[in-house]
Amino acid sequence: MSIVLHVDSSVRAESNLNSEYDSISKKLAKRFVTQFRKYVEIDEYIYRDVGINPPHFITQEWIGAVFTPESKRNKQQIQTLALSDELIAEVERADLIVISSPMYNYGMPAQLKAWFDQIIRVNKTFDFDLARGDQPLAPLLSGKTLVIITSSGEFGFEKGGVNEASGHLVPHLRTLSKYLGVSDIYEIASEYQEFADHRHEQSLQNAKNKAEALAAQLATIPAKTGQRTRKLKG
Ligand SMILES: Cc1cc2nc3c(=O)[nH]c(=O)nc-3n(C[C@H](O)[C@H](O)[C@H](O)COP(=O)(O)O)c2cc1C
Repeated sequence: MSIVLHVDSSVRAESNLNSEYDSISKKLAKRFVTQFRKYVEIDEYIYRDVGINPPHFITQEWIGAVFTPESKRNKQQIQTLALSDELIAEVERADLIVISSPMYNYGMPAQLKAWFDQIIRVNKTFDFDLARGDQPLAPLLSGKTLVIITSSGEFGFEKGGVNEASGHLVPHLRTLSKYLGVSDIYEIASEYQEFADHRHEQSLQNAKNKAEALAAQLATIPAKTGQRTRKLKG
């Protein structure tokens, strides 16, 4: 059994009348998923485009509902948490999570952050215990694989890169992924979009190649979530 959760977050569509406007991160994620599905029988494919259909921002009422014991929540509070419950259930079911993200202002789009804010929730995806000393938060989910696919206009955000200090996108995603129950992370990045030169072409080609190679590689690795194993095709 293999369940894939695919979350796109660019505000650009994957395919536009003018293909110059197409989202690079969405196209790369589609390439990865399409290729993965050639190798693996997917039992469930869950897709969210949070760039185009963003989750609500959390509110004071949302926090109040979260901190009200489940048995004591009123109808309004249950309704307030309905989307969060639904998004968390999708993460819980998945053994492979694919998140594609553009870099906006050196980090993730607000829409993707809103998705995380709905999901990282006390007693659902993490618990809090001061007995753990200076690290009171512990994730409640485990065993998932995450593929992070990014596109940026500039370049060099990786460790040792010229813009490392401004690279808040992947480090933030890595930090938050712990609370999705992620144990293995793979990255694919396309850079230089704003330069529109040969470096962008090369970077994009490398990312496409990596997406295909990673799909083949991950197909052969058994899923670690619960009793799930990936059933290879052919
Ligand atoms: C609002 C906005 C903010 C951006 N901020 C950055 C940035 O801080 N650093 C960067 O390298 N590129 C930045 N870019 C360029 C995008 O990362 C680049 O166009 C990327 O390809 C967008 O992803 P997409 O093609 O999947 O839509 C920004 C683009 C937009 C629209």
